[in-house]
Amino acid sequence: MQQPTRRVTILDLADAKQERRPITMVTAYDWSTARLVDGAGIDCVLVGDSVAMVVAGRSSTIPATLDQMVYHGEIVSRACQRALVVVDLPFPYQHLGVRPAVEACARLLKETGCQAVKLEGTAGQADVIAGIASAGIPVIGHVGLRPQAVHQLGGYRMQRDIDQLLTDARAAADAGAVAVVLECIPREAARTITAALDVPTIGIGAGPDCDGQVLVFHDLVGLSTDRVPKFVRAYADTKVTIAAGLARWKEDVVARTFPGPAETRG
Ligand code: KIV
Repeated sequence: MQQPTRRVTILDLADAKQERRPITMVTAYDWSTARLVDGAGIDCVLVGDSVAMVVAGRSSTIPATLDQMVYHGEIVSRACQRALVVVDLPFPYQHLGVRPAVEACARLLKETGCQAVKLEGTAGQADVIAGIASAGIPVIGHVGLRPQAVHQLGGYRMQRDIDQLLTDARAAADAGAVAVVLECIPREAARTITAALDVPTIGIGAGPDCDGQVLVFHDLVGLSTDRVPKFVRAYADTKVTIAAGLARWKEDVVARTFPGPAETRG
């Protein structure tokens, strides 16, 4: 997508689809990484509920709480000057009915300063998306592999039912979603859905034909210590760089060469 100097808005995402300019989205959960992602000109910063896995080391995103999303969302929103900040609605608010979901999303919007929320769901959550949208809260749908439903889906596996995927994505868009994340679905399904929807699709493990792409920051920069999905390409080797820096610092401390004259005052 082009680089507006002002804040990216949902209208820019709609324009990007019309003008076939790819949209970029990367996760961030803290001040330093949010500054880096925003500074790199990434269009959207996602405070994903993946925070539960990436930051807290949990085995799924299910334990992420609303308070935790508010905490991380507020930090990231404050750090970002240009990117559209999106905060995930944690499990299970979208399944509790329209009112609790709107209340939770309103809290995310009011207390974090984000510009949009994202929620996982099927066509069954269309009424909830409609309620959130009619409250004036920009909402992004998330279909395909829905990590919050990992136990129901039998694991982190590709979702292949094209008719169901199209139904779910259409339902989200028709209900008022401003974009739809497509996670871990076949390329053909993503291409069909992208052509069928007026709103942008943002893919992760969904092939190159989506209107945009999203990746988890730690996967993208080679910082993830656990399982990395096959669809990830690491664009840096940060883990190795950090480990080398730590080892050198430890050596210097043991050799009493740190702190040296440059770091010693007085
Ligand atoms: O929580 C998250 O990081 C996500 C992305 C994988 C899209 O939802």
